[in-house]
Amino acid sequence: MKELIDRLYSAGDLSDGEILMLISGEYDEKYFFESADKVRRKYYGTGVYLRGLIEISNYCKNDCLYCGIRRSNDKAVRYRLSENDILSCCDNGYELGFRTFVLQGGEDAYYTDDIMCQIIKKIKDKYPDCAVTLSLGERSLESYKKMFSAGADRYLLRHETADFEHYGRLHPDGMSAENRQRCLFELKRIGYQTGSGFMVGSPYQTDENLVEDLRFLQKLQPEMIGIGPYITHKDTPFSEFPSGTLKKTLRLVALLRLMFPMALIPATTALGTIAPNGRELGLCAGANVVMPNLSPVRTRKLYDLYDNKICTGEEAAECRGCLQRRIESVGYEIICGRGDAITRKIAQN
Ligand code: 5AD
Ligand code: FES
Repeated sequence: MKELIDRLYSAGDLSDGEILMLISGEYDEKYFFESADKVRRKYYGTGVYLRGLIEISNYCKNDCLYCGIRRSNDKAVRYRLSENDILSCCDNGYELGFRTFVLQGGEDAYYTDDIMCQIIKKIKDKYPDCAVTLSLGERSLESYKKMFSAGADRYLLRHETADFEHYGRLHPDGMSAENRQRCLFELKRIGYQTGSGFMVGSPYQTDENLVEDLRFLQKLQPEMIGIGPYITHKDTPFSEFPSGTLKKTLRLVALLRLMFPMALIPATTALGTIAPNGRELGLCAGANVVMPNLSPVRTRKLYDLYDNKICTGEEAAECRGCLQRRIESVGYEIICGRGDAITRKIAQN
């Protein structure tokens, strides 16, 4: 494996068969993760960027089979945050040193373009030194354009799986990989710093699917790539499927870092949910972003995408402190500031 890893380190790519060996072969990952960490340090040093996650609504018109806030889950208790709620989360976050706010929610028709644009403008007026990231699912080209003009800087939309057939098994009729991918290319073209990503170990996923995910990302060239293990939710049609594993998710994080040296890669909440030190291990395998929760504590438990989600009882300040300790315990440090992706041009200077 060492030869393979060295070649991936210097060339940033391998053949499909070689990537498959790194995904599922029998080997000790120590050298692999160290190589990913070396690349990460080359571009980003030991810095870890913070994003404050504000979960604005758990209403969703979609019915993704894996997701706890799917429309058909009538056990989900629904909520949405008002403009004022969202602004107070930002106030709290700003005090705590956050300079990126991520507004994430289900696909909730309540947040029309006008409502979103007003919220975005208010945040940017009050905090011009902050980046606003949206994660609101599939919307029209017009809508993406309007929100960009209102000041939104970034957009997160995981492609979930690049394989069209696999996508069809995870989503109901009416949703398509084609539309998802079209949205992603539109977002990039408009000028958003764009994030995509996928779940590791989702039902019916093969290792070949994961290779396709990496190939899709090579085409898209997103600034951010978020991945996490699939985690079972008891009130979904996939309640009998096992969760993805820590081992495979970490291998994919390392692959991402080696194939996308400059990408912003979060150590996700899902990774911290399947293992107590999952996020720390993610950082050591190449991740360089964490996304502490800034949502009001009263709604935290309700943004219930998967079972046993962590950080649902803590105040924002507690999550911030907890993460700082965790990050420092493995030799990295929090960088305050917007934390934009570095581009090839900046990296060369
Ligand atoms: N397990 C892990 N991740 C999930 N997501 C949704 N449901 C689950 C689950 N059961 C992820 C999706 C989505 C992101 C917001 O959360 O990848 O894009
Ligand atoms: Fe809401 Fe999937 S159930 S986006």
